Amino acid sequence: MARFKRHILICENIRDEAHPRGSCGRCGAEEIRQKFKAELRSRKLTTVYRASKSGCLDACEYGPVVVVYPDDVWYGGITADDVTEIINSHIIGGNPVERLVIRDERFHQDFE
Ligand code: FES
Repeated sequence: MARFKRHILICENIRDEAHPRGSCGRCGAEEIRQKFKAELRSRKLTTVYRASKSGCLDACEYGPVVVVYPDDVWYGGITADDVTEIINSHIIGGNPVERLVIRDERFHQDFE
């Protein structure tokens, strides 16, 4: 049995401002994580779903980046305004928010 039904990782990595890869942590990632946590808490869902701060997820060009496991769904360029939709549709409903999913084959590999 799994510890959580879904685990939401929010990259909050911060690099030097001049770094060419950028930083999710400089693009509103903390606000995104806080909103995930606040919404899950207000709905009393924190024992089922978990939102956690992450270091770099190696998807920097799509930041701010959020990945949801075990679904392995990668979201890019999201804002705090997208959090409620992701929770309702994906985290609770099981249907990823397609318009926010990163469209890059490197994030849809089959390792089997
Ligand atoms: S800095 Fe966020 S994925 Fe690399």
